[in-house]
Amino acid sequence: MKFFVDSADVHEIADLAATGLVDGVTTNPSLVAKTGRPFFEVLEEICRLVSGPVSAEVTATDVAGMLREASRLLEVAPNVCIKLPLTPAGLQACRALADRGAKVNVTLCFSPAQAILAAKAGAAFVSPFVGRLDDVGHDGMRLISDILQIYRNYPNFRTEVLVASIRHPLHVVEAARLGAHVATMPPAVLRQLVRHPLTDKGLEAFLADWAKTGQRIG
Ligand code: G3P
Repeated sequence: MKFFVDSADVHEIADLAATGLVDGVTTNPSLVAKTGRPFFEVLEEICRLVSGPVSAEVTATDVAGMLREASRLLEVAPNVCIKLPLTPAGLQACRALADRGAKVNVTLCFSPAQAILAAKAGAAFVSPFVGRLDDVGHDGMRLISDILQIYRNYPNFRTEVLVASIRHPLHVVEAARLGAHVATMPPAVLRQLVRHPLTDKGLEAFLADWAKTGQRIG
């Protein structure tokens, strides 16, 4: 399973990239706005910090505007992946960009029908938003299960399921259990994955017992 950091905060991304566990980054207009910095400056920095796919979302809603913005974003770095909304224009732009060899992440996916369209449009990734479905009383992980079941019926579908809108470690574990290709998560969730109180307690006990021996290894 690939782990992407869902953030535009270059300090958080740099910190997590140093762990060797980060395979890519996803941003969106809200995450970029939160930085208070110029988009292209942030994008350039992120693309230097992480060698994997860096999703940068267009803000146009028409096909021509999406393609125009995508061209500008693709000039930033070779690992830029264009993020397009799951709308008729987004799917048409996705097809055009995929035909040119550009990687596209089709985002704001909330149904299996939408995910089928993303695959038919040649998306490299589809981003189903599990947290936002959970937020309104739907079962976000059921959508992931449905999409993966459908995609497995069609070997010609090359689209990877990029589980997004992750709220906690169990979303990551369940996504992995289902066989999702990617989990994109806020920095805090990525840091939470490693934590367990019994690990901390066990290590503390090991070190305390070792200290009593008076020995040193290095
Ligand atoms: O990449 C999509 C993700 O940023 C959305 O997450 O928490 O705004 O639902 P959230």
